[in-house]
Amino acid sequence: MKVDVATKPLADVAADALVVGVYADGVRPGRALVPLDDAMGGTLRAVLDAEKFQGKSGQVTHIHTNGHRVNASRVIVAGLGPRAQVTTEIIRRAASAALRRARDLGARTVAIELLGDRQPARQRAHAVVEGAILGTYTFERYKKEKSDKAVEALTVVVTQASDRRGATDGAKTGEIFAAATWFARDLVNGPANEVHPTHLAEVATQVARDGRLTLKILGRNECEKLGMGAFLGVAAGSEQPPKFIHLTYKPAGARRRVAVIGKGITFDAGGLDLKTAEGMLRMKDDMSGAAAVLGIMRALPKLKPRVEVHGLIAATENMPSGTAFRPGDVLRAMNGTTIEIGNTDAEGRLTLADALAYAAKHVEPDEAIDLATLTGACVVALGPLCSGLFSNDQRLADRLLAAADAAGERMWQLPLIDDYKDHLRSTVADLNNVGQRGGGAITAALFLREFAGDMKWAHLDIAGVAFTENDLPLSPKGGTGVAVRTLLAYLTDGTPR
Ligand code: BES
Ligand code: MG
Ligand code: ZN
Repeated sequence: MKVDVATKPLADVAADALVVGVYADGVRPGRALVPLDDAMGGTLRAVLDAEKFQGKSGQVTHIHTNGHRVNASRVIVAGLGPRAQVTTEIIRRAASAALRRARDLGARTVAIELLGDRQPARQRAHAVVEGAILGTYTFERYKKEKSDKAVEALTVVVTQASDRRGATDGAKTGEIFAAATWFARDLVNGPANEVHPTHLAEVATQVARDGRLTLKILGRNECEKLGMGAFLGVAAGSEQPPKFIHLTYKPAGARRRVAVIGKGITFDAGGLDLKTAEGMLRMKDDMSGAAAVLGIMRALPKLKPRVEVHGLIAATENMPSGTAFRPGDVLRAMNGTTIEIGNTDAEGRLTLADALAYAAKHVEPDEAIDLATLTGACVVALGPLCSGLFSNDQRLADRLLAAADAAGERMWQLPLIDDYKDHLRSTVADLNNVGQRGGGAITAALFLREFAGDMKWAHLDIAGVAFTENDLPLSPKGGTGVAVRTLLAYLTDGTPR
């Protein structure tokens, strides 16, 4: 979708569809509706009244103008809820719902009012464009019959000239955030027979080329030399060769260094502790953290934050076979810690253990943040719409929570309860890789903390949120690209709100 910003009265804009907002307070029109309705001789208000359109957040309706003194053939009206309660998330969702309607009506060009008026123009434009692009994502790569309906061009229409600059900036940023999310969604939705570790390495190579990033890819032998016994233990059962990916974005004058680590299990069968058919069904999504990291690294050269960012992915499958690691095996991680395998299906923490140890030793970041579809327990705790956050540094946790809020992604902090470390005790090794059933998201996080060493570290458990079984306001069924926008907001210092 091509995006631009224009300053002119809405009635003068030529487009297949025009989008305006309405507040819920007694159907109070947004700023743009009155002059548009005047131009249309009052038909717009008459239709809204007749339909008893309430302007609730998420509601949309449309009318055909028949070219009636306006240059657009349809007007789509999007509800924004009560004016005093309009947030950037409400704007995102209104833009998404309106653009979905426009697409379904066959519109190719859409002009949309800069919705709302409570936030600065930059934030509103960011939200409008982000919502419009996120909501109209589709994944049709493997379909013979592709939909011929798609919005090709979106114009954000600004009525006040003083808003133009901010709106242009915001629209650009919103477009980059949404495109990065689409990129991650495509990787998550791609099937595991194509999106294997070697494919992730190829994608990283392309990302590095496009954005002039530094790239290191380590194969099995190099990982062995570095002592990544935990990562390679998981990889032992797979025919697909493992890849350790290290991308670096290093701008001049960077003020801090951040490592972003994504769980990259391209398929999680569970290993010899095989999952059930039902439990395995969606496990191509077990690389959603890695997909997010690749989306983030692709966006950074466009956003140019003054932060050095290292994207790390230990990519492998987790498969059962004659060469697979076994329950009871002892693996030695890169930092020397030995791990008894209580369950081969708790593989994500093993791959992340070596990625964290690698970050501590070879990157030495000011902060390390991992993104992982780590535990079913986190899904039980927080459900499908909220990620779990753990951190050994409250200031880092607070800043991530603020970034998530700005991005409109739900995130809830869970405690690192020291006493639960007992659950990970092993009689033969330094640690067991699983604890008892209760508090599984916490013990997984405590396990990771052991490998973060002295780094300021945060862990995002995105198991519930990475994939959605139903259409959401900003995502169709499938991979959601969760955490991309939160991390981009975090790394660019919390842009929207
Ligand atoms: N990839 C799964 C976690 C997961 C579960 C993600 C459901 C998305 C939806 C992870 O590798 C796993 O299998 N975790 C086990 C750990 C257990 C064996 C301690 C789990 O959560 O059941
Ligand atoms: Mg598993
Ligand atoms: Zn897994």
